[in-house]
Amino acid sequence: MSRIVAIASGKGGVGKTWLAISLSQALARQGRRVLLFDGDFGLANVDVQLGLGPGPDLASVLSRRCPIQRAVRQVDGGFDVLPGRSGSGQLGRVDAALLERLLAELSVLAERYDLTLLDLPAGIDHLVRRLLLAAATRLVVTTDEPTALTDAYALIKVSQRDGSAAALELVINLAESHERAARPMPAWSGCARISSSCARRSPASCVATRGSPRRSGTRPHSSFVTRGARRRATSRRSPATC
Ligand SMILES: Nc1ncnc2c1ncn2[C@@H]1O[C@H](COP(=O)(O)OP(=O)(O)O)[C@@H](O)[C@H]1O
Ligand SMILES: [Mg+2]
Repeated sequence: MSRIVAIASGKGGVGKTWLAISLSQALARQGRRVLLFDGDFGLANVDVQLGLGPGPDLASVLSRRCPIQRAVRQVDGGFDVLPGRSGSGQLGRVDAALLERLLAELSVLAERYDLTLLDLPAGIDHLVRRLLLAAATRLVVTTDEPTALTDAYALIKVSQRDGSAAALELVINLAESHERAARPMPAWSGCARISSSCARRSPASCVATRGSPRRSGTRPHSSFVTRGARRRATSRRSPATC
């Protein structure tokens, strides 16, 4: 059974797409079959970061111009990508029925892979929440800044309320150093045990009063990331056709 890992954040620009691509590459290097799905429907940019040319994408799938498996591209990192289309008005208007159809198709496609990574948009709208419910693991990315932590907390809270039982891991990215990212964090809700009293208070006060979630990893700011992203953008394969 393929595992779906959702990569989410409350605040944008914290490194979800970078992490999704880097994880895909690392897992592929270990011999795993990986599908990276660009679930940032409105502002997709996995394709930009990977330097993918035009071709079938999520918009083609949703408009039924292309079966989902035909929109999958193989990239040089040894993994497969289902790209989105940045700025597509159509992808910004995915309603519940269309999303359910897509999820059903995705779950069939995901059976072909050891892992399917969903690169989600920032925030807590209905689309993010539904995609989080489809995942077996939720990787929540944040920086160590109070605003990003507060938004990450809000995301975790609504996801718990939605009834997600998926494993929850926190990744602290873009910290000045590992030491800074690893310093004792203001306590969190404990993720699996958000109490109603906590939910009634402001996220910041919950952050300050509850137990810590499992921290999956830390990644300081690194100039290698930006240089790597630019290098990646030059390695491309010919576009798929539908
Ligand atoms: N650890 C890091 N060190 C340096 N730059 C990073 C790191 N993580 C992400 N970035 C850069 O930060 C910017 C935002 O990252 P991105 O993955 O697009 O964020 P998100 O998908 O959460 O909006 C990108 O330019 C990315 O290359
Ligand atoms: Mg992104």
